[in-house]
Amino acid sequence: MSIGIFDSGLGGLTVLKEVRKIFPNEEIFYFGDTARVPYGEKTKELIIRYSKEITDFLLTKNINVLVVACNTATALALEELKAVYDIPVIGVIEAGVRSALSVTKTNEIGVIGTKATINSEKYKQEIHRRNKDIVVYQKACPLFVHVVEEGLLDGEIIESIIKHYLGDFDDKVDTLILGCTHYPLLKKEIQKIYPDLNLIDPAMETALDLKKVLTENNAAENKGGHVKFYVSDGVQNFRNIGSMFLDEEIEDIELIKL
Ligand code: SIN
Repeated sequence: MSIGIFDSGLGGLTVLKEVRKIFPNEEIFYFGDTARVPYGEKTKELIIRYSKEITDFLLTKNINVLVVACNTATALALEELKAVYDIPVIGVIEAGVRSALSVTKTNEIGVIGTKATINSEKYKQEIHRRNKDIVVYQKACPLFVHVVEEGLLDGEIIESIIKHYLGDFDDKVDTLILGCTHYPLLKKEIQKIYPDLNLIDPAMETALDLKKVLTENNAAENKGGHVKFYVSDGVQNFRNIGSMFLDEEIEDIELIKL
């Protein structure tokens, strides 16, 4: 089986990393839409169009399953992708909600994400579909995506941006969903400032959802474990920051104009 994964940029590498831990031998095609990042400030129509263009491209690589490793695309385009394509399509929101519900003690959960994800209310709806008693606090943190794409993952600037966004969250919630695949790259810094918060990175749970799909379809197979990367801009930047984050060299990378 070949797995397709896409994100607006580098953030989906958090999901790729977890998928690789479970499936070191599967063939994976990763698309980072670095020319059009961030998605979080775009309209639903545009996010659906970009998501379909990328899916069509990945299907030319004969992927059998698609992981939408982008919260914004999951919030706004997942239903459409599931309706249009006949391969299994997995998003990141249900996974993040499941993890958060399994650890909260106070039933007060914070969700941070892009403007588009927060405005869609998809996290809140999914939490309340599972448990109506949970109090949900939401906040868009648009700057986080920009600093991660710049490779700025620690230091004074990051610390003050984190405090700026999360300063009023910390005493309200015991659990915080990092509802944008870029945010786990800032996890260490967030945890340093707010050591008592349970930080939820949906990536691991998403990889487990993928495992379930592959097991149900009896489809896991040894394809050599090669990962092929595609980006729509900035090959060198993606290679440098991505390799640092994945702890392995990103070698096979190609620039694609969609
Ligand atoms: C973005 O492109 O704005 C962030 C991607 C995400 O929501 O995970």
